Amino acid sequence: MSKRFIVGNWKMHNTISQAETLIRDILSDYQPNPSVELAVAPPYVALPSVARLLASSTMTLAAQNVYAKDEGAYTGEVSPPMLKELGCQYVIIGHSERRHIFGESDQNINEKIHAALHHGLHPIFCIGERLEERESGQTHSVIQNQLQAGLSGLEPKDLKNVTIAYEPVWAIGTGKAATVDQATEIHAVIRSTLTTHWSLDPEQITILYGGSVTADNAQTLFQSPQINGALVGKACLNSESFVKIAECAGLDL
Ligand code: PGA
Repeated sequence: MSKRFIVGNWKMHNTISQAETLIRDILSDYQPNPSVELAVAPPYVALPSVARLLASSTMTLAAQNVYAKDEGAYTGEVSPPMLKELGCQYVIIGHSERRHIFGESDQNINEKIHAALHHGLHPIFCIGERLEERESGQTHSVIQNQLQAGLSGLEPKDLKNVTIAYEPVWAIGTGKAATVDQATEIHAVIRSTLTTHWSLDPEQITILYGGSVTADNAQTLFQSPQINGALVGKACLNSESFVKIAECAGLDL
């Protein structure tokens, strides 16, 4: 693996002025490393200002969600062409909060992935099991089902533009990250599912780990060759911890 990918998911944090302050801090604290790609996913309303501030940097921009239609009577939704015009390269799709708070189904997620790819946006497709599913030994089947359903109808060439984020639901926002062994095991299941069903070269698949990643546990997680980066929530809201995670990602490459 030649590069690690770190994405900061700001969720519903930071007004426009707070977003500008945070991005300025990150830009001044972080020394870009060609082995690391760093992206941020601010709330929709902050995307234009953050895009402007990132214009002369190597950091990239992601949206936290998208709707699957190009335009129309869909009150409150935002389309792929709108995100594209704002300068987003990536879009997070299928985050567990979208699935569990907003009731998004595998089918909704699959439609969003197709729509994003159609418009040249790269999906960061999130999957992960709930605690009760892990405890009843269903983790592998849950992960395989989410992959099959979310990626249904995609060609191998499309898959090259999709990043997978393994985020066990029990690890998100709980301070209880998966161990490196737990994450490595599931990343290997994801990689082998993708290589088997879409005949992909395992090296071409980028799989991030997400769920309570911090400046303290990032380095241990990145020791696993299966873990190609991180989707970071809470720890990306502070420049110091986000930059430290990005620095850990560049250490041994
Ligand atoms: P967390 O969130 O780092 O706060 O656990 C991760 C995520 O939801 O992507």
